[in-house]
Amino acid sequence: MIKVGIIGARGYVGEELIKVLLKHPQVKISYLAAKNIDKVEPIGVLLPHLRGRLDLNCEVLDIKKAVPKADLFFLALPHTVSFSVVPMLLANNKKVIDLSADYRIEDAKIYEEWYKVKHADKSNIKKAVYGLPELYREKIKKANLIANPGCYPTAATLGITPALISGKVDTKSIIVDAKSGVTGAGRKASVDLLFTEVNEAVKAYKTNNHQHMPEIEQELSKLAGKDTKITFCPHLIPMNSGILETIYLKLKKNSTLEELTKIYERFYKNEPFVRVVKQEAMSTKNVVNTNFCDIALRLDTERKMLVVISVIDNLLKGASGQAVQNMNIMYGFPETSGLL
Ligand SMILES: NC(=O)c1ccc[n+]([C@@H]2O[C@H](COP(=O)([O-])OP(=O)(O)OC[C@H]3O[C@@H](n4cnc5c(N)ncnc54)[C@H](OP(=O)(O)O)[C@@H]3O)[C@@H](O)[C@H]2O)c1
Repeated sequence: MIKVGIIGARGYVGEELIKVLLKHPQVKISYLAAKNIDKVEPIGVLLPHLRGRLDLNCEVLDIKKAVPKADLFFLALPHTVSFSVVPMLLANNKKVIDLSADYRIEDAKIYEEWYKVKHADKSNIKKAVYGLPELYREKIKKANLIANPGCYPTAATLGITPALISGKVDTKSIIVDAKSGVTGAGRKASVDLLFTEVNEAVKAYKTNNHQHMPEIEQELSKLAGKDTKITFCPHLIPMNSGILETIYLKLKKNSTLEELTKIYERFYKNEPFVRVVKQEAMSTKNVVNTNFCDIALRLDTERKMLVVISVIDNLLKGASGQAVQNMNIMYGFPETSGLL
């Protein structure tokens, strides 16, 4: 049994972490912290659906008080906040899974360019392992600091990887058209996220200007062994959770759907949370509230275009579920513990 703390416990990701970890047989949640609370409050008061399920207070974060209370900390914090938390936790031999973007980008200059802030903990970037189990399981086993991937990057990287490493794809013309539910933006108040703004509308935003672009390009470039750029078109959809990405991959030469499907099936054959599916209609409904990423392939032979559809729950495989999967790998627990 390990003791875990959740910092940022009252946000959408923190709340989902609590829900998943309550089902985990090897974990005891022992510390919860948030920011905008006037006093120490039982979590069942702040999040009433947890009443009677978790008897624990949520505190205003005080990192010195947090340290002795857990073996591993999940940080479900807005970007930049982790810079003042991670060094202290690592110095005290704690394991950390950071769900923000702060340690995902290997080049601090690129982080600073896209997030428009100074990177305040450059020395720990090298210690961070990018927490995508399907690619980095062996490194995750030995890591003390996990940079848990972003939601859009998870669906994109899993959707593109097998085709990319097969060498069949033109690396200069990858297009990712992405749709996300509103929880992707977090629980903070913002006019753009009001019901009346989001309902009955589909909004294209940050086209080719979204902060997840450099993260996706970083991972694809490593896999391809050369600089790989994408065109990235995110959209906000009036639903709570879920991401659907339609990914356009130009093939260098024609291939059959059977051959391409085999490549994907072979790549993911031992993966507990990636399903290569053949059904006609792809829907976020098939993965929401689960840690699965479903991937389907369509081939347009005339245009030599492979279309990959990748769906996840942004709060689970895109955040807290993946974080728990990483924890399971770090501690040698069954990888699916708490997640099926
Ligand atoms: N939402 C998603 O789908 C998703 C997916 C992947 C990754 N992520 C990343 O995960 C992180 C959390 O996202 P979220 O959607 O859960 O955000 P959120 O709903 O806005 O929650 C943020 C949480 O952090 C707490 N917090 C903020 N500043 C703090 C500080 N200085 N000290 C202690 N606690 C502080 C907030 O406290 P209060 O509750 O008191 O305000 C809140 O509980 C972000 O970095 C986000 O980019 C999110």
